[in-house]
Amino acid sequence: MSVLDVIQKRYSVRKYLDKAVEEDKLERVLEAARLAPSASNRQIWRFVVVRDPEVRKALAAAAGQPFVGEAPIVIAGCAADTTRVMRCGVPCHIVDLAIALEHIALQAVAEGLGTCWIGAFDQEAAKAAIGAPEHVQIVELMPLGYPATEMPPKSRHPLGDIVMYDRWHE
Ligand SMILES: Cc1cc2nc3c(=O)[nH]c(=O)nc-3n(C[C@H](O)[C@H](O)[C@H](O)COP(=O)(O)O)c2cc1C
Repeated sequence: MSVLDVIQKRYSVRKYLDKAVEEDKLERVLEAARLAPSASNRQIWRFVVVRDPEVRKALAAAAGQPFVGEAPIVIAGCAADTTRVMRCGVPCHIVDLAIALEHIALQAVAEGLGTCWIGAFDQEAAKAAIGAPEHVQIVELMPLGYPATEMPPKSRHPLGDIVMYDRWHE
C-alpha cells in the first residue's frame, strides 16, 4: 500500500471486534509513533497503552463515549512537558503529539487495524484513570483494534476550497 492508499483507508472507527491486537502489530504501531518528528527532537510524548478493561472503562467514561472502552486497546497520547512554545507562537506539545498519533493511526491501517481520534474527554478524569501526574497533559485518546465497520464515504472540501498559491486569497 502506498502512503496515500493508507491515508485514504483511514477513517474514524467507532465499533471494534472483540479480538485482541497481536503484540507484533502493536509494537510496529508504537514504533511508528517513536519515529515521528518533534520540535527540537525533544520527544516529549509519552504513550500509555491501556489494555486493562477497568481503566479503558474509566477513560470511556471520561470521554462520555462508551465505544472508546470497547476497543481492546486505548492509547493515551500524553505530553510530559507542556511549557515550550515555538517562535511562531504555537505550543510544541500539541503539534508533536498530533504528528505521533497520526503516525499511529496510519500504521494501524497498514496493520489492518482501526483507530479514532478522541479529543472530547474530561482531562482530569482521564488523567485520574491512568494515574498521570499533575504536570502531564493528555492531548488525545486513541482506541485501537480491529474495525467492526466498513469505511463510510469521505466528506472533505475540494482542494480548490482549501489551497491557495503564493498569497492568501479570499
Ligand atoms: C483532534 C480530533 C478530535 C476528535 N475527537 C473525536 C471524539 O472525541 N469523538 C469521536 O467520535 N470522533 C472524534 N474525532 C474524529 C472526527 O470526527 C473525524 O476525524 C472526522 O469527522 C472525519 O472523519 P474520518 O476520521 O472518518 O475521516 C476527532 C478528530 C480529531 C482530528
